[in-house]
Amino acid sequence: MSKAILGFSKLSKQEKINWLAQQHFADPEAATTLLQSYWNTDAEVQKLHDEFIENTVTNFYLPLGIAPGFIINGKEYTIPMAIEESSVVAAASKAAKFWSTRGGFKATVLNTEKIGQVHFMYNGNADKLKVFFEETKNEFFTDTETITKNMQKRGGGILNIELRDKTHLIPNYYQLHATFETIDSMGANFINSCLEQFSKTLREEAQLYTAFTEEEKDIKVVMSILSNYVPECVVRAEVSCPVEALNEDKNISPEEFADKFVAAVKIAEVETYRAVTHNKGIMNGIDAVVVATGNDFRAVEAGVHAYAAKNGHYTSLSHAKIEDGQFTFWLDVPLALGTVGGLTTLHPLVKLCLQMLGNPSAQELMQIVAVAGLAQNFGALRSLTTTGIQQGHMKMHLMNILNQLEATETEKQQAVKHFEKNTVSHSAAAEFVTQLRTIDKARIEEDFLQ
Ligand code: MEV
Repeated sequence: MSKAILGFSKLSKQEKINWLAQQHFADPEAATTLLQSYWNTDAEVQKLHDEFIENTVTNFYLPLGIAPGFIINGKEYTIPMAIEESSVVAAASKAAKFWSTRGGFKATVLNTEKIGQVHFMYNGNADKLKVFFEETKNEFFTDTETITKNMQKRGGGILNIELRDKTHLIPNYYQLHATFETIDSMGANFINSCLEQFSKTLREEAQLYTAFTEEEKDIKVVMSILSNYVPECVVRAEVSCPVEALNEDKNISPEEFADKFVAAVKIAEVETYRAVTHNKGIMNGIDAVVVATGNDFRAVEAGVHAYAAKNGHYTSLSHAKIEDGQFTFWLDVPLALGTVGGLTTLHPLVKLCLQMLGNPSAQELMQIVAVAGLAQNFGALRSLTTTGIQQGHMKMHLMNILNQLEATETEKQQAVKHFEKNTVSHSAAAEFVTQLRTIDKARIEEDFLQ
């Protein structure tokens, strides 16, 4: 281990960069220059970013795109999306436009309950533990009053605490299973603080409980932590129109399109290989807005996929039906989001994105995010069941290929024009650029000879 690694976190940012450049790069100067070129020119803004995490050496950019024209519950939104994948923002915008003339999106928050647990071991009589819990339950609320005071003022707090016997799974294993309402904050800090106090109260009260034997008094808390599985914090997004209104594509009748679309969703409901990719498309929309609004996309991802498997097999998050000539497509997703706290007041672009959305409440943000997921899913299934996705995707991806080929601006313009009528592939683009360069070279040589 090199000397610098011991106490690495104590080094200054420049010292960390120097260590990194010397240790891992053949050209330390080039590596340093590149890292520094991504620093913000405003030192204050850079300091803010440096302090979000530990051992920061630079910033890692993601493009921020916008999908305008979303109508959600009758209100118009421009949705910010932070994502590196081409086509996603275009698909969202296209779906927004399509549904804006067909009644827009509807979104409903079904519930907003969050969960946290104290996992503990109790070696003793289960009935005595139940009586102990009932007798001391109020203490858990009283002991957390200083933590819950502000949340209660905003209309939130601890909803309930239950004792759960899990000894059929692991000997002596019990839980305090608590539910919370955290209003506009995602609530992780609030919930974890409450849980750590519950853990303390549990151990202290058990020690004082005279009906317990010495062994029963010795409750061992394993851990206290919120759950990112939030099946009671769910939002529904929905679109619906008469089948004959699905008449955008001249190559397919609205009826055939609706049938194929519903079949595609049914396949994702029964077939895990397809369900995962189908849901990945939904997450393209969800994650992009979750990231842009400073929320925790890992928490959302983990919770959403657990929800997709809640009935014992992994299935589609969205569903579709045709009933009495009416096409309906909807999505239920668990989303624990915040519009206050966390990065929301710290990251300048997060603040801007929330302003762009009209500073929504957490519930309104849940609706917007779910709609972005449904729109994305609609766009993907529409392409998949008609033209296939590659045609559109490769057109969007063309710029990435041209950048890889280090094409000049003129070459890019010529390529974009050429591929309006030709199929894009990496080799076709490479061939086209090589041809352009050969023609140019010949022209320069000709000019030189004249
Ligand atoms: C690509 O990022 C997402 C899709 O594969 C989703 C889908 O297949 O439904 C297009």
